[in-house]
Amino acid sequence: MHPRRQAFGLNRPEGGRRSSATNFGSAVSSLRRGSTVLPSVLTFLVIVASGGLLMMIEKGMLNGMETPAPRGNGGRPDLIRQRRGPGGVDVESQILQEIRNRTIKTMCKQRNMPHNIWSLSPLQRKTLLHHVLVNDRYRFLYCYVPKVACSNWKRVLKVLNGALESVDVNIKMDHHSDLTFLSSLKPEEIRYRLKHYFKFMFVREPLERLLSAYRNKFGEIESYQKKYGVEIVKRYRKSHTKVQSVRGDDVTFTEFIRYLVDEDVERMNEHWMPMYNLCQPCAMSYDFIGSYEHLETDADFVLQLINVPSSVHFPERQTWYKPVTTETLHFYLCSLPQKLLRELLPKYILDFSLFTYPLPNMTMDHCRH
Ligand SMILES: *[C@@H]1O[C@H](CO)[C@@H](O)[C@H](O)[C@H]1NC(C)=O
Ligand SMILES: *[C@@H]1O[C@H](CO)[C@@H](O)[C@H](O)[C@H]1NC(C)=O
Repeated sequence: MHPRRQAFGLNRPEGGRRSSATNFGSAVSSLRRGSTVLPSVLTFLVIVASGGLLMMIEKGMLNGMETPAPRGNGGRPDLIRQRRGPGGVDVESQILQEIRNRTIKTMCKQRNMPHNIWSLSPLQRKTLLHHVLVNDRYRFLYCYVPKVACSNWKRVLKVLNGALESVDVNIKMDHHSDLTFLSSLKPEEIRYRLKHYFKFMFVREPLERLLSAYRNKFGEIESYQKKYGVEIVKRYRKSHTKVQSVRGDDVTFTEFIRYLVDEDVERMNEHWMPMYNLCQPCAMSYDFIGSYEHLETDADFVLQLINVPSSVHFPERQTWYKPVTTETLHFYLCSLPQKLLRELLPKYILDFSLFTYPLPNMTMDHCRH
């Protein structure tokens, strides 16, 4: 077995997972004895813990489907029940929600994780507050993540505040006008809303999101080719040293990933900044975290919870939308040098582990098909 994969702790046979969770406690206490805690060490522990944890939660849940909801779930038992569609129960979605919920709760309890937005660094807080949209009428906060249906949510918000007649109006989205960002409010106004409003966000498989950003920004948007493409080509393509010849419109996926590996996650462009850094799920306790993979059901669920008029629905996919298929993702990932993918994963590891996405299969065999 590959040593690195073992370290990530997600794709292991059952026996290994439990022990990794038990080792976690002693590892943390030995860490606390040290005077400095390297973020990478902590990150590593978190991954190991989540691997073991997930396994146990999964098992416990699947064995105990009939038992009453555990303590942590007492607040809103109705949430779960409402998820039953007319035809039956969306069990898969429910289980995913439970696992995600408990993983976040457990991992966010760790000492080195932020526990509220005031314990974030000024830069982290600034990023977060710029990504949280406010609706005072329906009393909710939505943290938007680019490439995770955020334009459609912004349409919904604009309809709810009267700036747009219907979600289906055929206009180009302006991502700033007619929207209220939490960053524009005073600290006490922010505090009030964090305490009393319904808070939600949507997540997506991290690599699929990166691929989607890559294809959209470097394939279609000239300003990105100029701003980032030129820089990436100059940095990573040996043959392109002459400034004049670089147009930045032909960045390869490998070059893009190489660039991400060298960037500081807290200073990345929002289209590829980890979802964790954009929305800080430990500092902000979300009431609901939906998945792009269950977009329709999860979006309807949120709209019901925030009590919007039944005339407001979540928009259909735009006609120009190019989905990233599993095959496409597989193709791009297998085109990457394996070493590079392994260097990339630690940057996005909290997106994988907190939002419970399995790490990609990195065996050579896998790519031959
Ligand atoms: C997790 O569960 C708690 C307790 O039921 C609930 O209040 C909270 O909204 C859930 N959070 C998410 C993200 O699902
Ligand atoms: C990875 O892919 C290989 C080849 O397709 C397969 O045999 C193996 O079981 C996969 N591993 C995981 C953890 O999915």
